[in-house]
Amino acid sequence: MPVKQEPNIYEELRERLRSARHVFALTGAGVSAESGVPTFRGGGDTTVWKGMPFDVISSAGMLARDLPAVWEWFDYRRGVLGHCQPNAAHTTLARWQDSFPRFTLVTQNVDGLHAAAGSRDVLELHGNAWRARCLGCGWREDVRHLDADERPPVCRACGEAMRPDVVLFGEMLPAGVFEEAAMRASECDLCFVVGTSAIVYPAAALPAEARRAGAYLVEVNPEPTPLSEICDMTIRGLAGEILPRLEF
Ligand code: OAD
Repeated sequence: MPVKQEPNIYEELRERLRSARHVFALTGAGVSAESGVPTFRGGGDTTVWKGMPFDVISSAGMLARDLPAVWEWFDYRRGVLGHCQPNAAHTTLARWQDSFPRFTLVTQNVDGLHAAAGSRDVLELHGNAWRARCLGCGWREDVRHLDADERPPVCRACGEAMRPDVVLFGEMLPAGVFEEAAMRASECDLCFVVGTSAIVYPAAALPAEARRAGAYLVEVNPEPTPLSEICDMTIRGLAGEILPRLEF
């Protein structure tokens, strides 16, 4: 079989984009890497903070044992995020939302950079680090509106402690969001998987769902992942360089 030359890959994809009815994109930490947001696993390193692996500090068990420590970790992460701007991958995906009859953007990221780039109605599977949620009544509030010296912050609605509004290891996804994402995945005809190691479920099941329903599956990632095998096309490269090349 003749090896596909690079330019042909891009032209083929542009052609698919031009005729797509419903484009679905799933993003992970890699889409924000070029913005300066550290990934969790990319490159083989595990993020460790104060001697704790991220899946220990970011866990339901830690929340139950030491809520202020979980706040300290997310305050630290927001401190990093505060310096980060959306990159060309985020802005390309934001432009795509008005380029097709239907477009769905699903992210595992909690950094808010898709919205900062102008994306609307992003399905945030793992919540958002810029939001707090009351442990008592469920009231949600932008963390920037809360007293930064009060950890944990106290809910203005009921006086209970608040927590970061993110999904921690050992927790369920927010009600309905995965179901909505899975339904849309099953209705798309072109699915992009960008910057995710594709090992955290149930998010990683979405591309397979799209594939099962007959969508053409494209992966953009400098490294192979467990999904690579079922993809119709894998583009080994950086999201911020590859996605703008697909403008059609
Ligand atoms: P990971 O850190 O597991 O994987 C990041 C992926 O991005 C890797 O496959 C890298 O090869 C790839 N990558 C790195 N730089 C890239 C670039 N510039 N362009 C494209 N790809 C790049 O992050 P996720 O897959 O998002 O969950 O992790 C999934 C979930 O695990 C996270 O949402 C988080 C974490 O635990 C929770 O916190 C619940």
